[in-house]
Amino acid sequence: LNGMRTKVLGQKVHIYDEVDSTQTIAHKLVAAGALEGTIVLAEKQTAGRGRMGRSWHSPSGKGIWMSLILTPRIPVYFMPQLTLLSAVALCRAIQKVCHVEIGIKWPNDLLIHGKKVSGILLESSGEDERLKYVIAGIGISVNLLTEDYPEELRAVATSLAIESGIEVSRESLVQAFLLEFEEMYALYLEKGFAPIRLLWEALSVTLKRPIRTTTPTGVIEGFADSLDDSGALTVISPTGERIKIYSGDVELR
Ligand code: BTN
Repeated sequence: LNGMRTKVLGQKVHIYDEVDSTQTIAHKLVAAGALEGTIVLAEKQTAGRGRMGRSWHSPSGKGIWMSLILTPRIPVYFMPQLTLLSAVALCRAIQKVCHVEIGIKWPNDLLIHGKKVSGILLESSGEDERLKYVIAGIGISVNLLTEDYPEELRAVATSLAIESGIEVSRESLVQAFLLEFEEMYALYLEKGFAPIRLLWEALSVTLKRPIRTTTPTGVIEGFADSLDDSGALTVISPTGERIKIYSGDVELR
């Protein structure tokens, strides 16, 4: 990565050919004293992790499989805000580099034409209420072609190359992301979640739409109304009840 314009993020970069998961490597690096801003990149992951115990398809040389080490001085319950912040930074970076129409499905899936192109997984470690560190795992399907996806993913997943019709420079995209993230992160630490929330809302493809979500207590169907201060999604049920969703997946209807 030449000519990085960030001050802290990506000042230390670890690049691997093949790993099980860049998340695992990042956790080990923290234990060995790695500092905030350190990033781990791999050409290929053999056991890429997704949200909610799912796996993440990470074939060789075609994507950005990256973990970013952060040590924000915020309480554990602010983590969802950091998740939304990551999605905003990633969305803006992709818009700048690829000029594609991209939006965020709550909480942090990036969609182009309704198909997922990128996902974010935040893993943290902390004691009591204090966060010790966060590993932000970023997966971007950059130059995958249709044949690089297993059959069952083709209807729901896409890549930047498929959608834009051109091969995208992974280096430019990593740099653009780190720059956007650094800017958003500084804004967040200084001014709190409010400005990030506005940016997230403007990029959302979830708000003001009918959605369905499965929670531990059952299926909720309703109208996605707004984001609250903590980053939770407020859904209005058909009977007019306001329900807050803190985690899980939403399906656009
Ligand atoms: C999701 O949408 O479910 C989140 C996917 C996150 C994938 C990235 S790829 C780099 C990092 N390492 C992993 O094992 N997972 C994340």
